[in-house]
Amino acid sequence: MLLEGIRRYCCLALLPLAGLSDAGQGKALAHLQGIAHPAVIAHRGASFDAPESTAPAYLLARELGADYLELDLQRSRDGVLVAVHDDTLLRTSDVAQRFPERKNSPVSAFTLAELKLLDVGSWFNKAYPERARSRFVGLKIQTLDEVIDIAEGDPRKQPGLYIETKKPRLFPGIEAQLKARLQARGWLEQPGRVVLQSFDRSSLALLQQEMPQVPRVLLLWIGDGGIEPASKQTFAQSGESDKAAFYARQQPESQAEFERWLDYAKATGAIGVGPSAARSAGGAQSYADLAQPWMNRLSHDKQLLVHVYTVDEEVDFAKVMAAGVDGIFTNRSGNLLRHFSRPAALNEVQILDEQGY
Ligand code: G3P
Ligand code: CA
Repeated sequence: MLLEGIRRYCCLALLPLAGLSDAGQGKALAHLQGIAHPAVIAHRGASFDAPESTAPAYLLARELGADYLELDLQRSRDGVLVAVHDDTLLRTSDVAQRFPERKNSPVSAFTLAELKLLDVGSWFNKAYPERARSRFVGLKIQTLDEVIDIAEGDPRKQPGLYIETKKPRLFPGIEAQLKARLQARGWLEQPGRVVLQSFDRSSLALLQQEMPQVPRVLLLWIGDGGIEPASKQTFAQSGESDKAAFYARQQPESQAEFERWLDYAKATGAIGVGPSAARSAGGAQSYADLAQPWMNRLSHDKQLLVHVYTVDEEVDFAKVMAAGVDGIFTNRSGNLLRHFSRPAALNEVQILDEQGY
């Protein structure tokens, strides 16, 4: 497999990528890395239909046929790698009832045994009664190993993992620890089976040191610590009540400023960038549109893949694909797979039923 990868690399390195069309460039770059094109990346699992980062969310994404299961990596107080998105457990668990005195504490303040006491399913039933299921009550936080178990759990479906080091400065050494776990599980042998991602350039550099052969993606955003915005007006100053509407107006200060971030990506050895998207319907996961055609062209010109986060609707799939992206983070893998004419035999409801949820 390694030899095959090297051979492919050598051949493709000689290909005049600049002579290919924009779409052709992205495809060639993806194939060079062993990454599906266009890639379906199940954001926190199939997190529209099941509570994010839980077993049913990842099982559903796997059975739907997503190319990658996405997860946000953090570490428990006793050193176990877990999949949790937020800095705290308040939004997606009953931590306020279980550990009221520590309800605002970071994930790292809890041992794995404590984390496993939390119910990370019931919040979803309350927030989305139309998608609620009684079997979601009492769902548990997943360790990295448990997500790997799910990814390996159906020989007919073999999703990869798309792993984000989340707030990595809070977890010194997490990059080396991640490498050790992936290596122990035999996940570093197949090119493109794992993709690593971070907003944090230092973490990407550490990931490069630890796993130079594993593709890495620099996540892009606008504002604080990210791409300098054209407008210096903050959300608070804008008088806007809807954050998505505020983000949707944000533009990079200049093309040069956008390019600076692509150059950061190249400098840390990243093979791609993960820009934010503005969603047509707005909402909490709608950010600045950093996947505009000119931006994607620039990325491809610098031989960087583009995986955009996070869109769920047909209209947005069509828009970002027309803009030239190479893959999409989505909470609705089923929708995206249908958009790409890759439907599963069963729909989301049938799969959850079949899996015992
Ligand atoms: O990892 C891509 C995307 O997930 C980044 O945003 O906040 O959902 O982790 P977030
Ligand atoms: Ca993420």
